[in-house]
Amino acid sequence: MPRSDTATRAAELRELLNRALIAYHVDDDPIMEDAAYDVLYDELAAIEAEHPELVTPDSPTQRVGAPLSGQFQKVRHLSPMGSLEKVTTDEAIAKWADDVRKRLGTDEPVAYVLEPKIDGSAINLVYENGAFVRGATRGDGVQGEDVTPNLRTIGAIPLQMQGDAPPLVEVRGEVYMPLSGFREFNERLVAEGKPTAPNPRNASAGSLRQKDSSITAQRPLSIWVYGTGRREGLDELTTHWETLQWLRAHGFRTNPLAERVESIEEIAERVRAWELRRAELDYEIDGIVIKVDSFDQQARLGSLHERPRWARAFKWAPMTAVTRLNEILIRVGRTGALNPWAVLEPVEVGGVTISRATLHNEEDINRKEIRAGDDVIVQRAGDVIPQIVGPAGRHRRGTKEFRMPTHCPLCGTEVVKPEGEAMHRCPNRACPSRGLEALINWVMAAADIDGVGEQSVRRLWDLGIVRSVPELYRLTREQLMEVDGYAEISAGNAIEAIAASKAIPFSRVLFGLNIPDVGWVTGQTLARHFGTVDALMNATQEELVEAEGIGPERAEAIAEWFRDDDNRRLVEELRDLGLRFEAGEEERPVEGPLTGKRYVVTGTLERFTREEAEAALEARGAKVSDSVSSKTTGLIVGEEPGKSKLTKAEKAGVPILSESLLVQLLRG
Ligand code: IVH
Repeated sequence: MPRSDTATRAAELRELLNRALIAYHVDDDPIMEDAAYDVLYDELAAIEAEHPELVTPDSPTQRVGAPLSGQFQKVRHLSPMGSLEKVTTDEAIAKWADDVRKRLGTDEPVAYVLEPKIDGSAINLVYENGAFVRGATRGDGVQGEDVTPNLRTIGAIPLQMQGDAPPLVEVRGEVYMPLSGFREFNERLVAEGKPTAPNPRNASAGSLRQKDSSITAQRPLSIWVYGTGRREGLDELTTHWETLQWLRAHGFRTNPLAERVESIEEIAERVRAWELRRAELDYEIDGIVIKVDSFDQQARLGSLHERPRWARAFKWAPMTAVTRLNEILIRVGRTGALNPWAVLEPVEVGGVTISRATLHNEEDINRKEIRAGDDVIVQRAGDVIPQIVGPAGRHRRGTKEFRMPTHCPLCGTEVVKPEGEAMHRCPNRACPSRGLEALINWVMAAADIDGVGEQSVRRLWDLGIVRSVPELYRLTREQLMEVDGYAEISAGNAIEAIAASKAIPFSRVLFGLNIPDVGWVTGQTLARHFGTVDALMNATQEELVEAEGIGPERAEAIAEWFRDDDNRRLVEELRDLGLRFEAGEEERPVEGPLTGKRYVVTGTLERFTREEAEAALEARGAKVSDSVSSKTTGLIVGEEPGKSKLTKAEKAGVPILSESLLVQLLRG
């Protein structure tokens, strides 16, 4: 392509991709499929790789992030970012409205705009001629920290404004983490054994202050834009309401719940309505911001100590209560992490009765001085799980510091606390807590069931419908339809796929049983070597070691697994359900002249490599293993044989065969 055409194409792609981002993040009305976006993105990235001079700052490829060297720079906002005076009652709102009217003249009409007060981090974005040039945290209101690279990774922040742009405008808003993203974010932290974030506000603030913006890029952040600071060339905007419309039209994400009212009476009514709507939102709001709409009126009202007289933050009563913490119990997570949780005397917080709360880890519990038996302050934030803030007063007599149990409450194994980790863990890989992990492994890997994904397995587990592999095979279509995303047909197909998966080979069943250290390959080895689950189940450690690649430790772990009654029952249950516990054609040992014989090969052979000799023996039906036992038919020795194998063979009376005897054996 001639260069000018390439440049045109790059510009076209940039424009299209940026429009797609706005449609997706801001309008909530996507204009293209994710896959199409990816294809066009890749095309643009390829052009830019070949023509780096065509990269522009507003290219969507420039949102990926990179580490920052040094500290965040302090920057001065072009106009200060004030704060809001709080009110908590209808009377206080009425009093404020009275004051506004008195200052403006009693017969002048006043319109107000109501907006949700977003609980996130206040951000100032500077746009020059439509281009996003700098973004900073609020800081002390006069200067904040330059977090531009981090802000660039947020898809909902336009790098280039849409439409005709003024020479300069400061756009203000609140960066936040949606509750759905917050939950996933914390789940990931739990899975990684890291301390969780106490609330979405901390999570978003922490994400914005990452030194490596590629980390910020992975956090589910968004923004609600609620106003402007310094403006140049925007004289046509005379009200806050018009400004919100203007921002929206220029590609900024303004909150659709904002509304304009023309009387103070309406405010109280709207406040009630919002209180009910609050719990349904996918983000946290801690109140409502009420602003006088007209810029002229705002200017005449002015500010007092950087708090505008033209606005108030109506804040809801905090969602906290005091109740007795009865007990601290432990739940063992799927990775073995011990998660403490609180059993509370039931109490109503923000309209919901709560009786339990999550706690983080031993250190956190004791730092907050949370003790079973004390009265504690509980807090509910949005529909996030309730938290214990701390003790409500002095400790009651005899309440003690919390100590993690020394042994796993589920399997009794001694718990460990790895260096540098906050969580205690049960190291027992066969602990029943690992059931979910085992189930996911079964569905996703061992049986590889079409039409059932990890999310569905988790949902089925959470709903208590499927907690084990046998339960999976007893699942009905009706039960599956309780899981989001399943309709009659998809559920029917999934049930068929589950039933069909009963035919997976024995080796895969072994892999799926979650026997310590038995993966795909060992499953095959065991299936081939033992042929049936009965032979395997009754094998001694010595016999297990004879299978290819099974060392004494692994052999003991496998034998121990099969000695466990629960595991034996699981095998029987699965066998009754129709799963295969015998090696199939592809797994069955070959029948031949040497069937029933067992050999061990040691030392260097002249005519073949050891692997060739072993393969030749197996091809004639013999079994080959790594160690000598009383069951070994013969030890085949080459040059420099292993000393211990020789001694063992001599002791056990196992015949020692030379290479020429091996050749005769193979010839039959
Ligand atoms: S307007 C002069 N509107 O609340 C300050 N602020 O205490 C004008 N906030 O730091 C701010 N949602 O982070 C405004 N819709 C909204 C808001 C909002 C949240 C935060 C903002 C500010 C704090 C004010």
